[in-house]
Amino acid sequence: MTDTSQLAADGRLRHLITLDGLPRARIESLLDDAARLRAHWHGQRALPPLLAGRSVVNLFFEASTRTRTSFDLAARRLGALVVNFDIASSSTSKGETLQDTLATLEAMDADAFVVRHKENGTPALLAGHCRQAAILNAGDGNHAHPTQGLLDLLTIRDRKGRIDGLQVVICGDIRHSRVARSDVHGLRALGAAAIRLCGPAELLPDADEFSGCSIDDDFDAALAGADVVIMLRIQHERLERATRLDSQSYHVRYGLTPQRLACARADALVMHPGPINRGVEIASSVADGVQSAILDQVANGVFVRMAALAQLLGR
Ligand code: CP
Repeated sequence: MTDTSQLAADGRLRHLITLDGLPRARIESLLDDAARLRAHWHGQRALPPLLAGRSVVNLFFEASTRTRTSFDLAARRLGALVVNFDIASSSTSKGETLQDTLATLEAMDADAFVVRHKENGTPALLAGHCRQAAILNAGDGNHAHPTQGLLDLLTIRDRKGRIDGLQVVICGDIRHSRVARSDVHGLRALGAAAIRLCGPAELLPDADEFSGCSIDDDFDAALAGADVVIMLRIQHERLERATRLDSQSYHVRYGLTPQRLACARADALVMHPGPINRGVEIASSVADGVQSAILDQVANGVFVRMAALAQLLGR
């Protein structure tokens, strides 16, 4: 799904729904802003109050540790008020529609909504109902997770100095992964040379959705020459029927072990959006090893979300 309404007529960001179709220059400006904010924070442990007087509402209809906390920290550190909307105790349980909930909170002068939802398209739908507030997609179904895509790009750019020309392997439950989709959109926009999608046949996507990527169920073959290896967990919550994959046999074929990582380039970067399942898609020694950038990804998430909020709301 390409959503062009996330850009205003003058090219500025109006909402952040997907990286699909976002111009390379816009993606790079978000990464550059994130890097600048990070340098400022590490130098002074303080940031300019770019969001002073702004209100940001976190609307999470699905569980989250990293995305929710980092959006919260990002907004607060830039001076915004943050409301972590409690879905369970809200009037959505009395039959209020999502659109009416949004209109109600917007009438209180909320400036931005950070939305996570299990249904594809919910953030875009809400964006169509906003009068002036901005919507930031914090992950919808298997459609998109744009800030995860951005933080992955920033982490790769930091460690490799570029995205252009890199060979990237994404392994795991690609079919159900919004992270894989946003990573592919971002990597393509920034010139990755090869993107290889890999996993068990039943967790691979339809080829026509990922034109330009290779799709294979042979992980060892996919790893040869890889500069970056992005591991994904199996999204059991999105499987329509019980999978016959048990954790042990999955680890044998698709787990990233030290032996398997040796098939990639010697300086290959290991990434995972989290939450990780140790001993299933990744061995602990790899997750915690010198090639792992997993906690760098988490740290970069705060700065990427600052950059997105500042571009959407900063005065
Ligand atoms: N990577 C990611 O989206 O993690 P959370 O589900 O913890 O936010």
